[in-house]
Amino acid sequence: MNIRNEQPNDYREVENLTREAFWNVYRPGCTEHFVLHKYRNNPDFIPELDFVMEEDGKIIGHIMFSKAELVKDDGSKIPSWTFGPISILPGYKRKGYGLKLLNFALEKAKAMGVAFLCMEGNIEFYKHAGFDLASKLKIHYHAEPKDCDVPYFLAQELIPGFLNGIEATYCPPKGYFVADEFPEEFAAYEATFPPKEKKVLPGQLQ
Ligand SMILES: CC(C)(COP(=O)(O)OP(=O)(O)OC[C@H]1O[C@@H](n2cnc3c(N)ncnc32)[C@H](O)[C@@H]1OP(=O)(O)O)[C@@H](O)C(=O)NCCC(=O)NCCS
Repeated sequence: MNIRNEQPNDYREVENLTREAFWNVYRPGCTEHFVLHKYRNNPDFIPELDFVMEEDGKIIGHIMFSKAELVKDDGSKIPSWTFGPISILPGYKRKGYGLKLLNFALEKAKAMGVAFLCMEGNIEFYKHAGFDLASKLKIHYHAEPKDCDVPYFLAQELIPGFLNGIEATYCPPKGYFVADEFPEEFAAYEATFPPKEKKVLPGQLQ
């Protein structure tokens, strides 16, 4: 198993991997491959933290990171970071690859000075890499009331104490909403992939 930075000639393969990994998981079909496709030209994208995982010469995993920000009640902003999509090719899931890729990327992020990460995800996976509910660090999710624990909103200080004395709210960067922002471009992009059946499945987000 090898982890390295993604290169431009990997882009299509990695976007296809992302589509395969996310398809019908959170909604019928998925949009994460389009998010990735657009993000590489986004100033929030962090190329040094854009990794692919290979097994026997084949790309089986990918993760990317983004700059983000937290907003305090007084409107002032604090630099922050997030990551995703993270994808493991179906057939390789639940064999420990995702956690290895994530932990590798977190070490690199820490070495680059990334101090704090928050994101939406399943705590049953991310708890193994040090994530906990963001509410425990007094970081709120923009779309939920401040006084509740949001089970899918997770965070971790890579520099312990970075958020000491800080209470703030997070809204995912604009780059994660491109499928809603550019629906026709997304449809045209999606049409360049082999057709796949969209299914309504239990466990998808509402
Ligand atoms: C989520 C994902 C990256 C995890 O990678 P993975 O290689 O499958 O996971 P790992 O084998 O490293 O999991 C390590 C542990 O995390 C937990 N875990 C992983 N996936 C989980 C899931 N879907 N539900 C509950 N627990 C999970 C388990 O405890 C697992 O250990 P176990 O298999 O011995 O029980 C991968 O499954 C994937 O690509 N999923 C589809 C896309 C996606 O959901 N990405 C994340 C969006 S937030």
